[in-house]
Amino acid sequence: MEYHGFPVLDADEVAALVPHGAMVAFSGFTPAGTAKAVPPAIARRARELHSAGLPYQLRVLTGASTGSSLDDTLARSEAISWRAPYQSSSALRKQINTGDVAFVDMHLSHVPQSVLFGFFGTIDFAVVEATDVTPDGRVYLSTSIGASPTFLQAAQNVIIEVNRHHSRRLSDMADIVIPKPPPHRHAIDLDHPLERIGKPYARVDPEKVIGIVETNEPDDSTCFAEPDQVSQAIADHVVAFLAKELACGRIPREFLPLQSGVGNVANAVLKGIGENPDIPNFMMYTEVLQSSALELMLQGRLIGASTCALVLSQEATRQVTENIDFFSSRTVLRPQEISNNPAAVRQLGIIAMNTALEVDIFGHVNSTHVCGQRIMNGIGGSGDFARNAYQSIFMCPSTAKGGKISTIVPMCPHVDHNEHSVHVVVTEQGLADLRGLAPEQRAVKIIDHCAHPSYRDFLHRYLRETGSSHIPHDLSRCFELHQNLLRTGAMLPDNSLSSLAEPQLGYGL
Ligand code: COA
Repeated sequence: MEYHGFPVLDADEVAALVPHGAMVAFSGFTPAGTAKAVPPAIARRARELHSAGLPYQLRVLTGASTGSSLDDTLARSEAISWRAPYQSSSALRKQINTGDVAFVDMHLSHVPQSVLFGFFGTIDFAVVEATDVTPDGRVYLSTSIGASPTFLQAAQNVIIEVNRHHSRRLSDMADIVIPKPPPHRHAIDLDHPLERIGKPYARVDPEKVIGIVETNEPDDSTCFAEPDQVSQAIADHVVAFLAKELACGRIPREFLPLQSGVGNVANAVLKGIGENPDIPNFMMYTEVLQSSALELMLQGRLIGASTCALVLSQEATRQVTENIDFFSSRTVLRPQEISNNPAAVRQLGIIAMNTALEVDIFGHVNSTHVCGQRIMNGIGGSGDFARNAYQSIFMCPSTAKGGKISTIVPMCPHVDHNEHSVHVVVTEQGLADLRGLAPEQRAVKIIDHCAHPSYRDFLHRYLRETGSSHIPHDLSRCFELHQNLLRTGAMLPDNSLSSLAEPQLGYGL
């Protein structure tokens, strides 16, 4: 059987072609556009070979995190030896944290350039989901673009998963360009989030396409709960802050494009912005667009969005397919090198809103490593946006694990975003605007506005007792909370957990 002149293979036939030790680049930026048939077939092959006592593991590259068909399935079959650039699978996380999988945590905008210049070595195979591929090598991608255009260009062998579940007209949203390598790189000509600078398809050399695998499967869909009390309080602080910035002219009247992460807090913030009549209709320039953003688009509040992936519920996918003219005139799907491009983020004046694991009193943010040791997911695109944003906001609940952990600490044991890239910190307790403040002023503000009341005394005492310096620290005590946590399971073992379990809200701006 053939598809537009290419041989049609089944996924197990493809898996049989991929040798132990190969580097395989899969499509996928979140569950959106993740390859769906070949990874489970590779996992089956790994299990068979392992039970025969033979080694079988791959080096795995993607755009970002993936659906469960990829990371979870491969990790559970112990089929991954090396992984980059981001993941959010609990099975894989465990193997990374035991040292069984080597993981490279990196800025997502850097992936395509690193691939093209061979920083990871040869890409033996690319496995890319598409809605169609033409005999002359035009590949129409599905719900994400990610790094697939570069994978298609760089890989020695290419397999296309043609997924009939997705509308072929998703490509009406696609705007694909691979910037020329330096020193011949032109400036990115984007002065509006919806401006188009590329083509609706990616390119592949047809000679490299060894087969097509046909699928008919939706992306894993993500559903979010209604905002809880803590997410709602964080959202209220962010929305009030943006409205105030607008009122005093620090955000222009037309407003500025928003970048927003995924998850319940991000959803609550977007919903809050949508509902606030003081904030005008707005645009997004972001890496992931969730169902909640599409709802705002239907209401006319979100007037346009540039993204790298559409992370939609089944219902939202149906809405997009049925109203493709409406959504494709308001949405642009870009490769991660462009959606997360630092130059574009600076040029467009993005307001970046990302989530932290913990923040230290001087404004450094840890988004990735619990106690500086165990990875959660990775830095993802947060650094691409935060470092270059017009305003960079970091949000998190003030405590984790029922109050055993304070997310405001004297010093972060791992830093993803340093004090220079963090303008505003928000917890359910309140918001600390750090712009223009010296380190000690920042510390007082973060403790008083963002730390949970049960940890404020400890943090103020730490600050008082460290003496004077530009950034006052006591290197013998700066990780006391983390050491307590590792030793006893709680940062302040004497604190009554029941008094921490219920967040005390409302410190305000
Ligand atoms: N120490 C230890 N554990 C912590 C913690 C801390 N300081 N803060 C949070 N956690 C735990 C939570 O208890 C929760 O654990 P559980 O899954 O066992 O319940 C887990 O981390 C996730 O925390 P949650 O509050 O549910 O936040 P989230 O789902 O919004 O995720 C990040 C927060 C930081 C992990 C996530 O946003 C992330 O990976 N960020 C980096 C990537 C990024 O920003 N990308 C750009 C935007 S898409």
